[in-house]
Amino acid sequence: MNMEIEHKKNNPAILGWLHAPMAALLGIGILAQSCASSPPADLRCENLRCEYLNDPLGLDAASPRLGWIITSSERGQKQSAYQFLATSSSQLLDKNKGDLWDSGKVSSDDTSQIVYAGKPLASRQNCFWKVRSWDHDGHPGDWSQAARWQMGLLDSADWSAHWITAEAAQPASSQPLLIQHASYESVEGRGARDVTALIAGQVKNDRINLIVNNRNLGGDPALNLVKRLHVEYTLAGQSFKKDIPENQALAIPEVPPVSRYLRKSFSLNSPVQRAVLYATALGLYEVHINGQRVGDHFLAPDWTDYRKRVRYQAYDVTALLARGDNAIGALLGNGWYSGHIGNGGFQYFGKVPAFLAQLEVTYADGRTERVITDATWKSHAGPIVSSDFMLGEDYDARLEVNNWDKPGLDESQWVPAATREESIPLESQVMEPVRQICELKPKSVTEVKPGCFVYDLAQNMVGVVRLNVSAPAGTVVTLRHAEMLNPDGTLYTRNLRAATSTDHYTCQGRGLETWQPRFTFHGFRYVELTGLPARPLDDAVTGIVISSDTPRTGQFACSDPRLNQLQSNIQWGQRGNYISIPTDCPQRDERLGWMGDAEVFVRTATCNADVAAFFSKWLVDVDDGQSAAGSFSDVSPNTDGNGGAPAWGDAGVICPWTLYQVYGDKRILERHLQAMTNWVEYLRRNSTGFIRQRNRGNDYGDWLSIGANTSKELIGTAYFAYSTHLVAQSCQALGRTDLAAHYDQLFQDIKAAFNQRYVAADGRIQGNTQCAYAMALKFDLLPEALKPKAAQYLEDDIQAKGGHLSTGFVGVSYLLPVLTEAGKPDTAYRLLLQDTFPSWLFSVKQGATTIWERWDGWTPDKGFQDPGMNSFNHYSLGSCGEYLFGGIGGIRPATPGFKTIRIDPVIRPGLTWAKTSYDSIHGPIATSWKHDASHLTLDVTIPANTTATICVPATGLDTITEGDKPVASVTAVKYLRQENDKYIFEAGSGAYHFASKLD
Ligand code: BGC
Repeated sequence: MNMEIEHKKNNPAILGWLHAPMAALLGIGILAQSCASSPPADLRCENLRCEYLNDPLGLDAASPRLGWIITSSERGQKQSAYQFLATSSSQLLDKNKGDLWDSGKVSSDDTSQIVYAGKPLASRQNCFWKVRSWDHDGHPGDWSQAARWQMGLLDSADWSAHWITAEAAQPASSQPLLIQHASYESVEGRGARDVTALIAGQVKNDRINLIVNNRNLGGDPALNLVKRLHVEYTLAGQSFKKDIPENQALAIPEVPPVSRYLRKSFSLNSPVQRAVLYATALGLYEVHINGQRVGDHFLAPDWTDYRKRVRYQAYDVTALLARGDNAIGALLGNGWYSGHIGNGGFQYFGKVPAFLAQLEVTYADGRTERVITDATWKSHAGPIVSSDFMLGEDYDARLEVNNWDKPGLDESQWVPAATREESIPLESQVMEPVRQICELKPKSVTEVKPGCFVYDLAQNMVGVVRLNVSAPAGTVVTLRHAEMLNPDGTLYTRNLRAATSTDHYTCQGRGLETWQPRFTFHGFRYVELTGLPARPLDDAVTGIVISSDTPRTGQFACSDPRLNQLQSNIQWGQRGNYISIPTDCPQRDERLGWMGDAEVFVRTATCNADVAAFFSKWLVDVDDGQSAAGSFSDVSPNTDGNGGAPAWGDAGVICPWTLYQVYGDKRILERHLQAMTNWVEYLRRNSTGFIRQRNRGNDYGDWLSIGANTSKELIGTAYFAYSTHLVAQSCQALGRTDLAAHYDQLFQDIKAAFNQRYVAADGRIQGNTQCAYAMALKFDLLPEALKPKAAQYLEDDIQAKGGHLSTGFVGVSYLLPVLTEAGKPDTAYRLLLQDTFPSWLFSVKQGATTIWERWDGWTPDKGFQDPGMNSFNHYSLGSCGEYLFGGIGGIRPATPGFKTIRIDPVIRPGLTWAKTSYDSIHGPIATSWKHDASHLTLDVTIPANTTATICVPATGLDTITEGDKPVASVTAVKYLRQENDKYIFEAGSGAYHFASKLD
């Protein structure tokens, strides 16, 4: 544990998440060694990545994509060519013998998305690689440092491991269960059968768990009709009624299965040269070898639709193995597979977790050996009494088996594990896993009632608590979690709904005991600790923050501390909600991959972190959730079967397009183009005269807008147009010009229909809402002549509302860019810096440390909003974050992947300075500006091998200097033109210091 944290401290990605601006700029890579003979060109290839990851293990892309960045101290530096070597051993790489691939000198300035084109890559192939570049004058630079990747198991025949399970016996329930009435019936009331006796007969140890289907319930009571089980029962004296849909589980009580230890002893008869462990679970796992934890993944494997695929992880475990006796062991949790997932799903994918592992050992003499999960594994009761995302974890340390994961254990009390047939396809996990990101110490503790201590971590966070206790054996410590407090200082938990979010730890009584849950997580700022006979230790509670470990890319700071807090809240929201998939919220019984939320926030997310691999994986889940008719689901992985909702379903188009814009990733477009067009065709089929009139699914509208009501049909039609336009542009980017023309025509048709139906001759849009204008302008739905008018109505509405917004999830991210684009940056500033209700800074003023789900989550007059839906960590309304980078910081891609960059900061009187940096796929870009009424300074950093247009506000060209010289005399900066009060220059890589007069 401590070792892991030490390790994290040295990880630049983690440093990035935690430390001050510019760390990303400083933390990038190590200088290449210089070559002894002729001086190399001033450019270096750094940060070598394969499929967006550093040195990944277990890839299953047949032709992985490679990339690097160029660094140089020279202005205007460019790569004119590159050479790429891939070898099967590090020795060959040292000798520059590319046995897998020697690209030779390739004339190209590309440094990303380079498709491996060497020898075909087999399962387990080890690839070492390096690259060198030639500069703009054709001089070669040094070779980069070596990087590597290893292929995974590409064929199902590579797997000989079997799924195993501990088949845990359910603990006896202490609550008497009595079935009073049960009927298996058609939901429409046509046909029913009394199954009371059958169900009662299935109750064992006061619990029942069975899937509702014809087979289990004695045949079909209503042929060809949708059915359910209606059951009435008493549990612990209380009466309940439930309706369980067909194919879902009837589970009473709803307690997920306990976790038992699994282990296997084995011996290795020679020195080990290399060993790779491939492992995964239906559920969650933690695997140990010889007493040590393997890897640092939390909640592995990442969530997928377990009916379609499960992702395996690969670990280099060479250092953990020894010649002679060894042991491997695992603990399993329920996670998304067999615990509670959002909106009431329990055991949605399966009932009992299962584990799969294949350890492949290569001896020094070249022989290989495999240790696989099979019936020879053993199982034993363990300390995890229960684990569940919503309910929490219950751990009884008295049940620990010492040395359960070490060789030499007496296994006489262990029973054989069971094997289980599963036909689920296995795929490699090519994304950053969930990890522990950092720790938070409480800022205060209050004893709110005798023996009841409430800790304040001063930050709404996501993760678990690490507990330090010293108490007699059998003492049960209870930890509860909450985002907010009641006025009396106790936890406010009503907004968690059914997520009890409670962990229990039963002490062993051996002095200082340290524990943290493995298979649950909570969203919280406050922790309540009860159950100790004495005052807790000073360091009883530490917050362990978890997140999908996407490397930080963006930093933003400005002269208004409230805006800095807003940016911090956005980043904490992203960190806490990007847990394996982009979720809506981390605390209540929901935590689903809501598509609308993901779509509105994705561009902001790319500013804060490198989410390329994260979204590449999730977009497969999105396609998995698409219906045969082409409708994208509301949530991905799809756990409720709902779909077709405007702005939610459109995530299946908007997210791939955004990744293409930010990372220049065409493969993502290629991979998803079919699904994207299927969605557009679904929209077309469900429209009349190009108006989206039918099958809008749950039709959420401008969700949680405030004081405005935008027509849902209008939103549906606007998004139909937008998705169609993006599909047309995607086809264009992929060279599918015919298809592009086809969808472009469809876009024009929808646009015409939109105008005809919703837009008056004077440019007024039906409903006159901010959301409608923002969408129409952003999606290019209006004729040129009406755009300024629409922008004016938008501004008028904001002014009429006293400088307040009225948009919900859908319109909110477009407001500021659209206003600025329309030449109304002062109104954009006014909205952004507004701190009275409703506004972004209102929650900041109330002390928020994350973005709230609702504008009025808590107000001084009304207190808490409806607890039925009131999360305090929901990033959607924080989608204004992209404006901090692209607007105030002025850093935007001019072409996909930031190969050309537009630097155009929005500098208005509301702020006196702003510093923004963004680590693009081509390297770090930064701006820093400062102004008073009459002078401006603007510092800009442009990465090597890119060019930028830089917009400098000034009263005249002759007032502009760069590096203290009149800009006209600086050769590295080329004057292009004037646009209103800005002068536009072109520049290559380097650091530039502009100054100008504003008055
Ligand atoms: C979720 C969302 C989601 C919405 C659908 C909510 O319960 O938390 O953020 O987008 O439902 O409208």
